[in-house]
Amino acid sequence: MADDDRLRDVADDRDFQIGAAVAAQPLRTDAAYKKLLRNEFNYVTAENALKMGPLRPEEGVYDFTDADAVVNYAREHDQAVRAHTLAWHNQTPEWFQEWDHTPGQLENFLRDHVHTAAGRYRSKVDTWDVVNEAVADDGTMRENLWYEALGEEYLDKAFRWANEVAPDTDLYYNDYGADGVNVKSDAIYDLVERMLDRGVPIDGVGLQMHALHEKPGIDSVAENIRRFKDLGLDVEITEFDVAYLPEDDPGDQEARWEKQADFYRDITEVCLDEGVDTMIVWGVRDSDSWIPGWFENLTGDPLLFDSGNDPKPAYDAIKETLANYEA
Ligand code: G3I
Repeated sequence: MADDDRLRDVADDRDFQIGAAVAAQPLRTDAAYKKLLRNEFNYVTAENALKMGPLRPEEGVYDFTDADAVVNYAREHDQAVRAHTLAWHNQTPEWFQEWDHTPGQLENFLRDHVHTAAGRYRSKVDTWDVVNEAVADDGTMRENLWYEALGEEYLDKAFRWANEVAPDTDLYYNDYGADGVNVKSDAIYDLVERMLDRGVPIDGVGLQMHALHEKPGIDSVAENIRRFKDLGLDVEITEFDVAYLPEDDPGDQEARWEKQADFYRDITEVCLDEGVDTMIVWGVRDSDSWIPGWFENLTGDPLLFDSGNDPKPAYDAIKETLANYEA
């Protein structure tokens, strides 16, 4: 690895996809953000722009302005795109009141959304999170609006509709809190196994890896990846960030950033060990992270670049692991 090699160069040499979740606005206004994104990452996902709510500001209206900004920027810079997400219980359109609809109307609504969004980007994105977070933390099926209207079959329908309009796009199920082997990942395993048995066109499972309150054991992550791959599915790390509760925070920034780098390194190694070739971090710089706005009790510097656009030890840990890994 040459000293001036960027993370993206090292990932390219390893045939590894290293990505970041991005927002449309800084792509229009922030030169430093754009420079980091195009130089350091070969894979891009839209943090919010491709979700149902942002795509559908008014009834009967699709607004692809921000989504196109993200997708087109990525394609202009030879970056693959991971689209997130078609069916979720969060960020449905503010004007949309599910209780105003019969189950049949909800099915038509979701079908139109999947066909329109996945169809528009059929030749522009590599992967879609077709369904996000359909399993509750206790392992039961989350009783979201789609489940209440259509039962578990809403997942089958969403994947089939996406496959109808984007047959060459990889179709994923994506969830959080299921990175190691636990009651939730057991339930997800059982769910995707049932879907496969029903002939549903699902290609992979996204492990979000929001390593916030507790961190999954590395061996448990490896075991979890292996069992999904044994089903014939691909696995991607889709929303990686690393934060700490006060009791787990070493207290000073340098020590915290080294502890954080160790975890990023461990997960990168387990990806390489287990044949996972995609890892996306949930933001470009610490100042772009969602965490400070959602959790007061978590440290707010979870990513690879600090708020001054400089690489952190976690950046070096991933780059060196990718460069020096030997199976
Ligand atoms: O864009 C609007 C802006 O116009 C408005 O003025 C402002 C205040 O209402 O809201 C802005 O939208 C916010 C959006 O982030 C963009 O900043 C939404 O309110 C806010 O809810 C949204 O939060 C996102 C969250 O998902 C929604 O649940 C976070 O940015 C995003 O990082 C987070 O990402 C999720 C993944 O999609 C799924 N996995 C978990 C992950 C973290 O929750």
